[in-house]
Amino acid sequence: MVRQNDLVEVIRADEEIIRADNLTKNFPNGVTAINGISLTVTRGEIVGVLGASGSGKTTFFRLLNGALMPSGGELAVLGKQMRQISYGQLKKMRSHIAMIYQHHNIIPGLSVAKNVLMGKLGAVSILQALRIAFYVKEKELDKVYGILELLGLTEKIFDRATDLSGGQQQRVAIARALMGEASVILADEPIASVDYLTAETILGLFSRLNQEKDVTVIMNLHQQDAAINYCSRIIVFEKGKVVFDGPPEKFERGE
Ligand SMILES: Nc1ncnc2c1ncn2[C@@H]1O[C@H](COP(=O)(O)OP(=O)(O)OP(=O)(O)O)[C@@H](O)[C@H]1O
Ligand SMILES: [Mg+2]
Repeated sequence: MVRQNDLVEVIRADEEIIRADNLTKNFPNGVTAINGISLTVTRGEIVGVLGASGSGKTTFFRLLNGALMPSGGELAVLGKQMRQISYGQLKKMRSHIAMIYQHHNIIPGLSVAKNVLMGKLGAVSILQALRIAFYVKEKELDKVYGILELLGLTEKIFDRATDLSGGQQQRVAIARALMGEASVILADEPIASVDYLTAETILGLFSRLNQEKDVTVIMNLHQQDAAINYCSRIIVFEKGKVVFDGPPEKFERGE
């Protein structure tokens, strides 16, 4: 049986957020998207994952949040072996991890406010989720407003999320992730479809959460500059393998 706080206890015990050991992922079509990756991410890091299109970045993230299962090797997230994880443990784990998807998975038909509130989904029941879809409490709205303010999106709070531009929808997805108060943020190209200033806002926000609240951030990026300026560690993927793993200074020197 899983105790209420057992994942939290595990994180405190060894501070290890991710441990991959010779991890591989093959798809049925014969593609090996992840080809023997070994790495550890500990609490408080802010990691930028770089790599060409098709190098396996999104697949790695999908393994981390349990959307895909490893084909070989080992992967432990928050101290749990993903190959042996039960549905209950996975659900609990996801309430600690905020996932921001490359294609932002906005819930069609719902307002910005309700989409953001769904960020609590990892922690609330289906019944509560249904309630949020119909009715938002004033206290909840205050919190949503505060988060949207950080992202410069308050004027859209009652608009239908699907009526927003791509970059605005991306910010809704980020607001939703922040709503859950996760201790780990996995962001798949969080600044891919936003302008320069918004990108700085989003990365600045991640950086603050990292420094002030000890949130571990792992993000896939296409922009090397962003990784150099905001990350404490850079990992480069190439054809499913890690070809660089180190601090930004070392990356800049091309070592
Ligand atoms: N569900 C799937 N079935 C089969 N092949 C897949 C699947 N998902 C990804 N792939 C393949 O795995 C490889 C890695 O894809 P992935 O999406 O992880 O790349 P990426 O680094 O995120 O690329 P991008 O920067 O374009 O988002 C690609 O060759 C892709 O075609
Ligand atoms: Mg991708």
